[in-house]
Amino acid sequence: MVAAACALTTAAATVLVATPASASAALRVHAQARGKFIGTALATSPLANETAYRNIAATEFNQITAENAMKWSDTEPNDNQYTFGGADQIVNFATANNQQVHGHTLVWHNQTPGWVQGLSATNMRAAMNEHIATVVGRYANNPTVVSWDVVNEVFEENGSFRSSFWYNTLGSSFIADAFRAARAADPDARLCINDYNVEGINAKSTAMYNLVSQLRSQNVPVDCVGFQSHLSTQYGFPNDLQQNLQRFANLGVQVRITELDVRIQGSRTSAKDTQQATYYTNVVNACLAVTACAGVTIWGFTDKYSWVPDTFPGEGFALIYDNNYSQKPSYTAVHNALDNGTPNDTTAPSTPGAPTASGVTSSGATLSWTASTDTGGSGLAGYNVYNSGGTQIATSTTNSVTLTGLSASTAYTVYVRARDGAGNLSANSTSVTFTTTGGSSDTTAPTTPGAPTASNITSSGATLSWTASTDTGGSGLAGYNVYNSGGTQIATSTTNSVALTGLSASTAYTVYVRARDGAGNLSANSTSVTFTTTGGNSGGCSATGTIQTQWGGGYVVQPVTVTNGTSPRTSWTVTFTLPSGHTIVGSWNATLTVSGNTVTARNAAYNGNLGSGATTTFGFQVARPSSDTSTASGYTCA
Ligand code: XIL
Repeated sequence: MVAAACALTTAAATVLVATPASASAALRVHAQARGKFIGTALATSPLANETAYRNIAATEFNQITAENAMKWSDTEPNDNQYTFGGADQIVNFATANNQQVHGHTLVWHNQTPGWVQGLSATNMRAAMNEHIATVVGRYANNPTVVSWDVVNEVFEENGSFRSSFWYNTLGSSFIADAFRAARAADPDARLCINDYNVEGINAKSTAMYNLVSQLRSQNVPVDCVGFQSHLSTQYGFPNDLQQNLQRFANLGVQVRITELDVRIQGSRTSAKDTQQATYYTNVVNACLAVTACAGVTIWGFTDKYSWVPDTFPGEGFALIYDNNYSQKPSYTAVHNALDNGTPNDTTAPSTPGAPTASGVTSSGATLSWTASTDTGGSGLAGYNVYNSGGTQIATSTTNSVTLTGLSASTAYTVYVRARDGAGNLSANSTSVTFTTTGGSSDTTAPTTPGAPTASNITSSGATLSWTASTDTGGSGLAGYNVYNSGGTQIATSTTNSVALTGLSASTAYTVYVRARDGAGNLSANSTSVTFTTTGGNSGGCSATGTIQTQWGGGYVVQPVTVTNGTSPRTSWTVTFTLPSGHTIVGSWNATLTVSGNTVTARNAAYNGNLGSGATTTFGFQVARPSSDTSTASGYTCA
């Protein structure tokens, strides 16, 4: 992409926000009015051969992903023989219809030719870099192509790295390398990591979160995270999707739904269509609710051309048009969500089941009820909880809610109403009455926490642990407050341990802990502990190396973090020792010279200037005898 196109897109979106889309307008009109894209994956054969396919693709969507045409097996089937026919067909169609293209995908374990999979580590890394440079480079000055899936599906379900030929040959370093190569090939393109089953908060999405956070802290250019969202009604909806998108957004990346479809089992029924439509509504609403979510790409649009029946036996009908290009309820769901609720939906959700109260304490209780359904088209949005006076006291997006802040020894009578996307409210559920426990008499403070100890001390943080308190006053132990020697509260914890962050380097901290119960009573102060953060390099500088990945015959040290002392500097030199028999095979962000076992790394032209306390990083790769497990050591900075 080019920067000018970016500015134009922004300007156009801003103008359109002022003009509400007409209710029956195409999806892309409503999406643009909301500042989002609505996209589809396209297959080259129907695009060439079917007018109905072309017309819908052109008029309903403002973003296109090639379903297959930009994958490695299509673009470089043989070493250094590139075939861009399908890719160009897609990009040209998008240009003609004023649509943006998301490039999919550069580095993946599937649909990659055998010749790549059999390469040695050195040759595989070179082939990867060259492929990225060529494919991304081809469209770097084409304003239609704005973003890329740089790596795709690098995690297993448990959050470990997928044992693909990429990982098994190169270790995880291929991921950072791929992003760097893509940035070099097109400095303006938005670079994404993409995966499936990462829509909810789970082991896999948390591994993705940690990787993105780590790569960005190492200045690896990861700009965006793609959530494929191949959903199935049999597995339920990931209700924490919005929350998950938001936690990634908080890392500073763009997020996007990249491959949405919602498959159903067996044949279509109106009940299954309705459930599917609700999932589509929920995904679009989650993206709309997260500012950093750029838009939603549906993985195709017609059930006539969907990967689902071929891939998931017994499941199908996952898209928003049927086999004959008629719009399904899921189309209406996407349309109405983008149109900000449905003016025509006047059908209230069904009445929630009778609520039951559990976990009753002196200040709270959990209510649960059987979920409502919504058939009006806008989809179930959540529930409102009311007290007997009809005052709304809580809301929930699930069929359960935890009430807090209640008065002790008090009877509460509450009921629930369901709410749909258009704001229609169901009838009242039956009421439930519960009485909070007698916490008002709790004036007994918890016992004093044990003496805190400090561990994992770094230049900016430390972990405190202490023996837990007990609480006998009735309201129960709620947590702990941590104070500095001046009596200022610097952290809280619900367990008998806390990680302090954001501390200053080379500084002595004296801290103590007080326990807190549910009624707000505080224990006496624990004894204090004093610890001193590391990293005292007042005049000079320091360096630490981290092994990013290693294998029998080598390893990657990334990052080597160079931390300046208090005096600003314009250059730095890091020396370290290589075990004998080890050789440097590559480096980045520094210039390395080797003399005997000593390596001297000097700053590159662009990272020598370091202000007081500033850091920068560089990295390098080493080859070693395959029987050797030792690594470089003894980093010093001057
Ligand atoms: C699928 C295509 O839809 C199929 O046509 C092809 O045979 C296999 O790949 N995750 C991805 C997509 O990132 O590239 C996959 O697309 C679906 C799963």
